[in-house]
Amino acid sequence: MSDRKDFRLQDAAQCIGQDVTVRGWAYNVRSSGSIIFLQLRDGRGTIQAVVTKAAVEAGSWQAAQAVTIESSVVISGTIRADQRSAEGVELEASEVVVVQRAEEYPLGKKEHGTDFLLDHRHLWLRSKRQRAILLVRDTIVRAMRETMHRLDFILTDSPILTPTAAEGTTTLFTTDYFGEPAYLAQTGQLYLEATAAALGRVYDFGPTFRAEKSKTRRHLTEFWMLDAEAAFVEFDQNLEIQEQLVLGILHFVLAERREELKVLERDPKPLESIAAPFPRVRYTEAVAKLQADGATITDGDDLGGDEETLLSQQSGQPQFITHYPANIKAFYMKPDPADSRFVLNADLLAPEGYGEIIGGSQRIDDLKLLQQRLRQHHLPEADYQWYLDLRRFGSFPHSGFGIGLERLVTWICRLDHVRESVPFPRLLNRLRP
Ligand code: 4AD
Ligand code: MG
Repeated sequence: MSDRKDFRLQDAAQCIGQDVTVRGWAYNVRSSGSIIFLQLRDGRGTIQAVVTKAAVEAGSWQAAQAVTIESSVVISGTIRADQRSAEGVELEASEVVVVQRAEEYPLGKKEHGTDFLLDHRHLWLRSKRQRAILLVRDTIVRAMRETMHRLDFILTDSPILTPTAAEGTTTLFTTDYFGEPAYLAQTGQLYLEATAAALGRVYDFGPTFRAEKSKTRRHLTEFWMLDAEAAFVEFDQNLEIQEQLVLGILHFVLAERREELKVLERDPKPLESIAAPFPRVRYTEAVAKLQADGATITDGDDLGGDEETLLSQQSGQPQFITHYPANIKAFYMKPDPADSRFVLNADLLAPEGYGEIIGGSQRIDDLKLLQQRLRQHHLPEADYQWYLDLRRFGSFPHSGFGIGLERLVTWICRLDHVRESVPFPRLLNRLRP
């Protein structure tokens, strides 16, 4: 018996007639007298192993009889073609070894409630659907990095422990930094503005934190964000970069993850039909449209989840909502030179009701104005001296954006809730497992 240590079940269809060893888990077990069927999973592929009492030694037969759901096993045998199976092949077992006989598995075939599943997230991740989501997530991350590289952006990592707020003070997580308070980063943006002056086009990608006190389908307290910042890029060009990034991500997913989208019952057509330029709608127009559709929003209020859902259900394309009122947005956003009540910002809303996936803007490059904005937002100017220095030493027009990984995964996989888009979600009431 050859024992190819590098054998992977995903390659089984190319190994018909070969002797192989599978190392994995039994996700299902059936027996009919003198034959035991073990459905195996090795991480990426699946196969059915057929153990026939007459064809194996007594030790292997006893081992096969002992296999329970999620037991870990090492099974050697021959790959045979089998038209009836989903994989087109099965494993004719010659030897069965149980590595660990699993206790009674808590996740059965019956429907479980969300809390039960989240309590067992460490096991739930083994299910076919959750594995498909993780694979799409992996592709999206790779696509983000490769597309940013293609667009000539350089990765410069931002710190997670910071002394200042960047996205308002109401969602800060505070921790003790040797006797002084420190905050977990809400975004790397401010630091990217500094590295943009060093390298021109830069991005970071890492975990970000918001103490979101609301329970919604879109909010995590810990999520991954890619921030991008580009020197001498103004408002319109910033939107074009975002379009290129979103199209780049969709291109990778549609090329690599068709099977997974099928497992998720995600129709790829709406994703295939996405094309640039994405529609651009001014905040004021969006509010008028919402009001005409019966929404209760008042002009001047920020768009909430419900409003974003409404707007994004009406379009098959992602849409930029631009030029929000200055007083409801972050301190660093540049006022519109044509009307300073509004800022040069844009939120990109994903279609199909998913809402915001990107927030971005052109930044204030004038020292005096930025100092004034810090005061208006009651932010301690002393802590932002280094950030103000960027306006003292070679200030430059610049723009950037942040794209949330979990929101992307949720939309692209067409999930109901952001909690399934990350291996171990952190939510208002959930820190475990
Ligand atoms: O719109 P936000 O708050 O923008 C910023 O933080 C900017 N400083 C980014 C920048 O310009 N460099 O967040 C950006 C994106 C959102 O569009 C959303 O996709 C995601 O981050 N996001 C969240 N995702 C999950 N849970 C949350 N609580 C999120 N908050 C923001
Ligand atoms: Mg936002």
